[in-house]
Amino acid sequence: MTKPQQSYARIYTNALDNPQDHWEQAAQALHWDEPWRETYETGENGLARWFVGGMINACYNCVDRHVAAGHGDQTALIYESPVTGTSSLTSFAQLQESVAKLAGAIAARGVGMGDRVLIYLPNSPQAVMAMLACARIGAVHSVVFGGFAAPELAKRIDDARPTLVLTASCGIEVSKIIAYQPILDNAYALARHKPAATIMWQRPQLAADVDRADWFDWDAEIAEATPAACVQVEATHPLYLLYTSGTTGKPKGIVRDTGGHLVTLQWSMNAIYDCAAGEAFWAASDVGWVVGHSYICYAPLLNRNATVIFEGKPVGTPDAGVFWQIMAKHKVSAFFTAPTAIRAIKQADPNGDDLQEADLSSLRAIFLAGERTDSATLEWLGGLLDVPVIDHWWQTETGSMICGNPLGIERLPIKPGAAGVPMPGWELACLDEQGHPVPAGETGTIVARLPLPPGFTSGIWEDDAQFHASYFAEYPGYYMTGDAGYLDDDGYCFVMARVDDVINVAGHRLSSSAMEEVLARHPAVSECAVIGRADELKGQLPLGFVVLKKGQSPDPQELEAQLVARVREEIGPVAALKQVHILAALPKTRSGKILRKTIRQLADGENPADPATIDDPSALDALRAIFT
Ligand code: COA
Ligand code: AMP
Repeated sequence: MTKPQQSYARIYTNALDNPQDHWEQAAQALHWDEPWRETYETGENGLARWFVGGMINACYNCVDRHVAAGHGDQTALIYESPVTGTSSLTSFAQLQESVAKLAGAIAARGVGMGDRVLIYLPNSPQAVMAMLACARIGAVHSVVFGGFAAPELAKRIDDARPTLVLTASCGIEVSKIIAYQPILDNAYALARHKPAATIMWQRPQLAADVDRADWFDWDAEIAEATPAACVQVEATHPLYLLYTSGTTGKPKGIVRDTGGHLVTLQWSMNAIYDCAAGEAFWAASDVGWVVGHSYICYAPLLNRNATVIFEGKPVGTPDAGVFWQIMAKHKVSAFFTAPTAIRAIKQADPNGDDLQEADLSSLRAIFLAGERTDSATLEWLGGLLDVPVIDHWWQTETGSMICGNPLGIERLPIKPGAAGVPMPGWELACLDEQGHPVPAGETGTIVARLPLPPGFTSGIWEDDAQFHASYFAEYPGYYMTGDAGYLDDDGYCFVMARVDDVINVAGHRLSSSAMEEVLARHPAVSECAVIGRADELKGQLPLGFVVLKKGQSPDPQELEAQLVARVREEIGPVAALKQVHILAALPKTRSGKILRKTIRQLADGENPADPATIDDPSALDALRAIFT
């Protein structure tokens, strides 16, 4: 059956003029236990609170309603784990049974409505089940990415104060076994808050010691559990917290409410990803990031798609053909990954031989996000495939795309370098430093007019002041996205760089300030700076600069090794800081601000003029000597 022709322009305009009408219609696709009283109310900060008074359950909508409708035998989870040699399928009926039991087990350990549960698990069915089990009983999950070290885990434990931790004995990075228990032990020793219990999934690759007070074995807990039913929660009840990097070393606990988020996700599966129920959808991300929350777990299951959970890397597990082979094996319709993953594949298989060997006849589109898709990557992939390659722009704060190409509504022309056009509910502008809109084609800070569509974060966990200061104080009436870029005459948005000290390494958002805090604590260091240097594979790589304290003269290589090790131990391997330079002085303005942008330009091989405000131009000479 051919779909009726729809128009992006008409739907976009309607969503701005009649947001109630647009999102009420979208909400009909979900099961509500009680209808909402108000489609939206304007709350603090001028933000909308969506579907106020409505009662809903995320797990019921993702799992139980499909079983109730007779689709229990359909595949819900496809697990492909080349690092363990495992491949398995889970039907919706099996998922319902497992999740109900896990929910019963965590409830029996004292977790109730609104309690936080920290999830520290590798990409696996267990991780998705853990998220759904929390949602089933109204608990708030906080997933922490496996690549973060113990001190980062401790910060998240202290901020979220979880009642329980769900974890595994190990993660696997290509062929390296990463033992999780020592990381948890360290984190518990560092944290002020102590979770009451830890439930450990023992993986065959490594046994952990659960013969300890307050530690429990996952399988034993489930075997004894009474299945828990779905509870009704308010639409504005938090579904999860997800920590993201900001301009300080303290991660921000982004709070996602339930109802509005589910509505946007369900809507996006048809309108953006153009996926029909029953098809296979694959987001090759990690459950520890926002893309994993939205598009490994919730959205595909809401839409009754089989979701692929991949535990591996785009290359090396075993080779650069793994993505294409899995897509062919499971007849994936829509695939989503980060540009850095495609660049890794391109490096390993420049002619795309592996891709051409796979039967990709089911694939209708590839979506990229996490960082800007450079034109070379877009052209390489687009040249090998007969399907559109779509860049779309996302943030942890938004939970889904701000800009994209709504394939399920109308396929718009693709402009290389652009992240597409604004999605319904997003009215964007680019502003100069005084808050005035800049003309089309000129770069400014990208802002979105309030109120925002459903799904946008409802706050930073227990920190309203930070929420306001980070996003709403600078440009009243707008959400300040933290990204800079421009809109062209056709309304396409080009997202070019961050306006803050956040850097983007292999599609991972990291705080350069957090790394600076680690470097600054070294006894030999008097001051430091970390910038993101352009990198062909990872987009950016952090690069450190330190000035030594008077009287210090360590061996430069030894000092670099110590600093690199400290960042790895305190933030985690994912920070990927590998190089630190010693300087006599950091370039600064006369008011003492470090000229990070100028340092970055020099590191990227540009030749910027000395800023007018520079205090001592000779500080730049040393940098020029390093980078020319
Ligand atoms: N647990 C433990 N360690 C982890 C980890 C995890 N979950 N994820 C990454 N690491 C470690 C890696 O093993 C590596 O350690 P090393 O320094 O000992 O080698 C380090 O962190 C850096 O990892 P990564 O940035 O992933 O680099 P890589 O060289 O292993 O792989 C890519 C490079 C491009 C293949 C990989 O980064 C990738 O697939 N990126 C896609 C990211 C993505 O999907 N982002 C989500 C947005 S959509
Ligand atoms: P995260 O919150 O980890 O998802 O990171 C969000 C940030 O990644 C954004 O603020 C951007 O800086 C960057 N980003 C994500 N997707 C894109 C994209 N398609 N184009 C440009 N930048 C992107």
